Amino acid sequence: NPFDGSSSLPTSLSVDGDSLQRQIDELSTFSDTPAPSVTRILYSEKDVLARRYIKNLMGLSGLSVREDAVGNIFGRWDGYEPGLPAVATGSHIDAIPYSGKYDGVVGVLGAIEAINVLKRSGFRPKRSLEVILFTSEEPTRFGISCLGSRLLAGSVTLAEALKKTTVDGQNISFVDAARLAGYMKDEDDLSSVFLNSGSYSAFLELHIEQGPILEAEGIVTAIAAPASIKVDFEGNGGHAGAVLMPNRNDAGLAAAELALAVEKHVLDSGSIDTVGTVGILELHPGAINSIPSKPHLEIDTRDIDEKRRNEVIEKIHQSAVAIATKRSVSLSEFRIVNQDPPALSDKSIIKAMEDATKELNLTHKSMISRAYHDSLFMARISPMGMLFIPCYKGYSHKPEEYSSSQDIANGVKVLALTLAKLSLY
Ligand code: GLV
Ligand code: MN
Ligand code: MN
Ligand code: MN
Repeated sequence: NPFDGSSSLPTSLSVDGDSLQRQIDELSTFSDTPAPSVTRILYSEKDVLARRYIKNLMGLSGLSVREDAVGNIFGRWDGYEPGLPAVATGSHIDAIPYSGKYDGVVGVLGAIEAINVLKRSGFRPKRSLEVILFTSEEPTRFGISCLGSRLLAGSVTLAEALKKTTVDGQNISFVDAARLAGYMKDEDDLSSVFLNSGSYSAFLELHIEQGPILEAEGIVTAIAAPASIKVDFEGNGGHAGAVLMPNRNDAGLAAAELALAVEKHVLDSGSIDTVGTVGILELHPGAINSIPSKPHLEIDTRDIDEKRRNEVIEKIHQSAVAIATKRSVSLSEFRIVNQDPPALSDKSIIKAMEDATKELNLTHKSMISRAYHDSLFMARISPMGMLFIPCYKGYSHKPEEYSSSQDIANGVKVLALTLAKLSLY
């Protein structure tokens, strides 16, 4: 009798790898760039269609679906003790420009399949199981990473910024973009998105590794600490032929120098774990015969050691000031958009994943996640764990991203069994 609390773990777990692969392929067609690349930007038409696709699958799996004001989507399978905090799992389906079809997607479609696996096995969860699709893990549109999970974790600063100042590159406000996609309807109180700490007894995310280490399962022990910075310089600009070299203050060169300074400071940290990237460098007015007057840079820097990363940020700031002085341009903006601390996985969730892996005759490696994930923020309100599966050559954030159906199926099995275990705790 499942109601007496004596429910047992499932014994046979069968993943429908073909359906899952078909779903991954189908979802990848909701893209604004041609296959094999995928581009799915927050609240775009393609994003809305992809969300509909996921909600439909959740419904087919018998989950009750709820969406919050920013479009985080929750699909719940009620346990036989529905009053207990649920066990949640999920990831994101937004995709940066010209990326691949597995990043995030495996953790959403795989989570729904894990529920199907458990249902087919006859398992009855004690704690409810919940699949979450997080809104905008990628910072592409509004420059804010993990927008949905950051809000779920209760970021008041973000809620304020989203209501008042956040615009995209086309100057469309977050609120307008959300409304156009069917969200933020009569709701501008974003605190409705916040979840109480303790809402979940565990949160688990399945994700491709995005690195080259794994041959089998990866159990994440910690997530590195990411930060991002926006920088603007301003110079006089002018005619590329008429303004002589001694009379210029070329702000584009200040930006170029800062990009090199980022690399230098990162390398000077002396640790292989410190990384820094200038992924955006735009020159205004962007004409071959005009001296750049307004460059814009966006800098991403990360480390597993928060203090060391913060020292790099400080050095980048000092360089920006010094370069501006030297080149007689102004540093019109140096804004740290986010400077997040790292997160540790929960010991008992790690143990549950290790046990599940062993019981399924799979091997695993313990590792840190150098990429960030919604789990970084879910860790603020719930015990957290992450499961990585191998991906081809570690390729990610590009169209060549690939994980085999077998590796995905193994990941889904471990996820399913771990969810089952955590649901019975
Ligand atoms: C998110 O995709 C990241 O950049 O780690
Ligand atoms: Mn990504
Ligand atoms: Mn991802
Ligand atoms: Mn990520």
